[in-house]
Formats: sequence, structure tokens, C-alpha cells
Amino acid sequence: MQLRVLAVGDVVSEYGLDCLHRHLRPLKKQHDVHFTVVNGENAAGIGLLPRHAEELFDAGADVVTLGNHTWGKLQITEYLDTNPYILRPANFASPLPGRGFGIYEGPRGLTIGVINLMGRFELDSNLDSPFQTADRILKENAGKAQVWLMDFHAEATSEKGAMGWYLDGQVQALWGTHTHVPTADGQILPQGTGFITDLGMTGPAQSILGVRPENSIQRFLGGLPRRYEAASGPCKLNAVLFVIDTDTGRCTQVTRCDVLE
Ligand code: FE2
Repeated sequence: MQLRVLAVGDVVSEYGLDCLHRHLRPLKKQHDVHFTVVNGENAAGIGLLPRHAEELFDAGADVVTLGNHTWGKLQITEYLDTNPYILRPANFASPLPGRGFGIYEGPRGLTIGVINLMGRFELDSNLDSPFQTADRILKENAGKAQVWLMDFHAEATSEKGAMGWYLDGQVQALWGTHTHVPTADGQILPQGTGFITDLGMTGPAQSILGVRPENSIQRFLGGLPRRYEAASGPCKLNAVLFVIDTDTGRCTQVTRCDVLE
């Protein structure tokens, strides 16, 4: 079958959650989406509470992935252990609550594996290698999923590109998150992996990465540190559609399908 997977960029703040509620289900319908993965690590600004995770699922996420702000709200830890549909990066160095990958049931009994990993370059050096962690997960779970998807939460475009090419042919779709800036390099790599460097974000459009512009400008002017506040106003939803031929295991289409209010 032609499996249609929608990957949604980092949902930022209550405004991003509201935007997701308004647009995700219509977008899924418009593009005949079978399976949806949403990055939710900024749903409460820095991190998320269980109620934010529930909202992401209510809005239409099948699986929620996280990143460097996973522990921004420690009230999420027990929820990560009990809900198998939310993932945190698999390559934290020590044993921590939650799980870094899961295998889920898709349409027509299809098994879909989702892996969440985090980059080390300029982000968090206290992590196991995301490359070796990916190898280990894929090796230990060989044959258990017909389709593998990955959210690689990383700062550097180079590290994300390296992961795409490293796993080309081993996963069907691999996308980057974290920078909140959508990239225009959606492509199918030679061995059939659908890849894009960054999905972008879901939240206030008139902002700097979801934050009020004046907060960010002040920081770069060198003033006293101020708490970041979520911007308001019209929102955008950044998402990418991957179409995967489950017979050949190759991605056949990578398309941006952003919504701008
Ligand atoms: Fe992040």
C-alpha cells in the first residue's frame, strides 16, 4: 500500500496547541493521512505536562516525540512510563523514564516503528551516539516493523543530513526537528529514505521560533536575561507528508504541506 505519514513540527505553547486543534484533522483528511507523528516538546514552552500530551493526542497525533526539553516539566516522567505513544530521545546516556522507540499498529495491520533520537552537536554532548543507538535499535528489532520512521531532534543541519544518509535504505522516512525553521530540502535519498532537514514549528507565525520577538532581540542586545514569553497572533502549522510504498520499502514522495493562518 501507499502509506501516507504526516510529520508535524514542534508545537509551541498553548497557541501552537490551539492551532493544531484547528488544523490537524482537516489537514489529515485533505491528504488522506494514515499515521501522524507530532513533536511536542515545546507544548508548555519548555517541556510539557501530561495534559499537554493529552491535547496533542486529542488533536490527532498518533505518536508524540520529544527532544532536549523532555525534562523541562518533570511532572511528565511517570506519563512517559505509562503511555507507550509518547517517545523521548532514545540516546540519553543513563537509564531514564520513558522509551525512545515504539512499534505501533498502522492501517491494514501494518507495523510501524518510530524512533526518537537527539543530536549532540551544539545541543547536548552528554548523550550516547545517536548513530550507534539507531544501529542498535534497528538491529535488535529487525523484522519487527514493516516501516521505520525517525524524528532526529538536532541543532546542526550537517548532523541531521549525516543521519539521513547514514540510515538511507534502513528507515523509510527521517525528519529533523528542533530548529523551528522549516527547510526546503525534502528529498528521497538514493536507497529510498524520505528525508528533510527540519519540519519547522507549529505556533505563532509572528515570532522568533515561537517566542515574542522583543524577548529574543533583548537577549542578543546583551540586556539582563528575561523570561521568554510565547508570542501571540496568527499561527502556522509546519508539516511534511511522506508517502511510503510498503511493498518496496521506499519513500516515493516528500511534500511540505504547511498551513498559514
Ligand atoms: Fe528542541
